Amino acid sequence: MKIAIGADHAGFNLKEEIKKHLEKKGIAVIDKGTYSAESVDYPDFGEAVAEAVVQKEVDFGIVICGTGIGISIAANKVPGIRAALCSDTFSAHSAREHNDANVLALGARVVGVGLALDIVDTFLGASFEGGRHARRVEKIAGIEEKYCKPQTSNKRERE
Ligand code: RB5
Repeated sequence: MKIAIGADHAGFNLKEEIKKHLEKKGIAVIDKGTYSAESVDYPDFGEAVAEAVVQKEVDFGIVICGTGIGISIAANKVPGIRAALCSDTFSAHSAREHNDANVLALGARVVGVGLALDIVDTFLGASFEGGRHARRVEKIAGIEEKYCKPQTSNKRERE
């Protein structure tokens, strides 16, 4: 299993703890930054992790900011991303089982390190149940298709 992880300054310390924890378990971790506690903007790291997930560079992403809110909103703007902000283990396994979440978001100012590591283990240890949940996840993809503007690199095409 391969994980991409990213955080802003508020999530930097927790990111380092999660990295150590996963690497100890033999899980490969790609660190998308930030690399210090200096103030940065969380959307940059939410986007970098989300891109690694949709480009299949990794199996799952983990994003962290102070609350987990801003960085999960940013990650969820990338088509194909289902980022789940979890502060408890019930939400963490449900996010995988019911929502097929591919990114876990954490709030470093909300959960302590011990709980965060339990949430990470629970999320990565659970599997999507499919069935009726698959129909609902497909509907989410349908909303994305309806509202995401097609990307064109040619300015004239856009006009
Ligand atoms: C940074 O101070 C803080 O706003 C950020 O980490 C996050 O909580 C935003 O949602």
